[in-house]
Amino acid sequence: MPGPGSFLIGEEERRHVAEVMETGYLSRYGSETDPRFKRKVVTLERLFAERSGVRHALAVNGGTGAIMASLVALGVGPGVEVLVPGYTFVASISAVLAVGGIPILAEMDESLTMDPGDLEGKITGRTRVIMPVHMLGNPSAMDAINAVARRHKLLVLEDCCQALGATYRGKAIGTYGDIGAFSLNINKTITSGDGGIIITDDTGIYERAFAYHDQGHKPLRMGLEIGKRSILGINLRMNELSGAFALGQLEKLDRILSMLKDRKARFKNALSEARIPGMKFRVLNDPGECATLLVVIFDDPGRAARVAKEVGSKTVAESGWHVYNHMEQILAVTDEKGKPRYHKGMLPRTDDILSRSIALSVGVVDAGLGAGFGINVLSNDVELRAAADRFIRAARAGSNP
Ligand SMILES: Cc1ncc(COP(=O)(O)O)c(C=O)c1O
Repeated sequence: MPGPGSFLIGEEERRHVAEVMETGYLSRYGSETDPRFKRKVVTLERLFAERSGVRHALAVNGGTGAIMASLVALGVGPGVEVLVPGYTFVASISAVLAVGGIPILAEMDESLTMDPGDLEGKITGRTRVIMPVHMLGNPSAMDAINAVARRHKLLVLEDCCQALGATYRGKAIGTYGDIGAFSLNINKTITSGDGGIIITDDTGIYERAFAYHDQGHKPLRMGLEIGKRSILGINLRMNELSGAFALGQLEKLDRILSMLKDRKARFKNALSEARIPGMKFRVLNDPGECATLLVVIFDDPGRAARVAKEVGSKTVAESGWHVYNHMEQILAVTDEKGKPRYHKGMLPRTDDILSRSIALSVGVVDAGLGAGFGINVLSNDVELRAAADRFIRAARAGSNP
């Protein structure tokens, strides 16, 4: 059970899903006039938009689909460049390639999110979108990123997949850029097994995202609209069962966030009080982060590797999935002349910081993120203290090779 929402499945989800099963309306589209049609997906969209403080939300089948539809809505297509950090889940990069665009990999900083200082040197006449990724629950430095975007007349797509529930400057993430894409997969703050949500305040962008997600149709159709479809779309629709499950999870999102924040504060405090030399916490761009993980950065990569091994984990650099160096399918991509576009070691600052970083689980327990060790959203005081003590012992011992 990797994400906090999956630890807390209960009566709320059961009630919403049972309603759908009783009526048999399994698609997001049903009869406008039949009171048995419960409109779970449409309700999820309305509540998520309200909670985020934007005009539009669109539920889709996953975070990858949410990013693809967002890219298309922002006009990304063949040959268009998108700036994206090299430390992210592969989907942020592969979604750009899937719609014909060209991902341009950018460095991250000690927040483990996009380094705004690395963007301007990588902008070309073909760049259209900057895609910050709010990694491991931490909002990206949106003020600085938006300033670059404004200076160069670029659009911003926030990949919010790992930070549902986080805020930046008091507002929901996903509302700072032109569009925000969320995931409801099993590792996320709340889940529907698989699922995704897009938010935007711009009606034109929303209509294009909706059309791409459903064969070119206009938003909220309930019937056929032959002759009115203006763009080529595919099918990324969310179904009523997933929408129902997600509604149950959304009802407990605030409870989940406060449980995460409480546990993270106590876990972090225990590590701070131990005053471990040569170890610091990663930079948080806003205290509104969603507290799913606690990341520590050591001065020395050898020591970080020893400490991680001692607690049965790995440094973030070695943890697998989220580092461009380990994305063989991306490293295989070539340019128009057949030359590789990307290569291992092309982001030296990212590599350096990640080789010194260890992610400790607070609510997301995922070895693929390097967070196979730590606590979870239900951990009690004794478990929390035991995990902290074990890590502190390992960190102290790790100073002596
Ligand atoms: C940063 C990031 N972007 C995109 C995705 C893709 O989301 P999904 O798995 O729902 O397609 C994920 C999911 O792991 C993610 O962590």
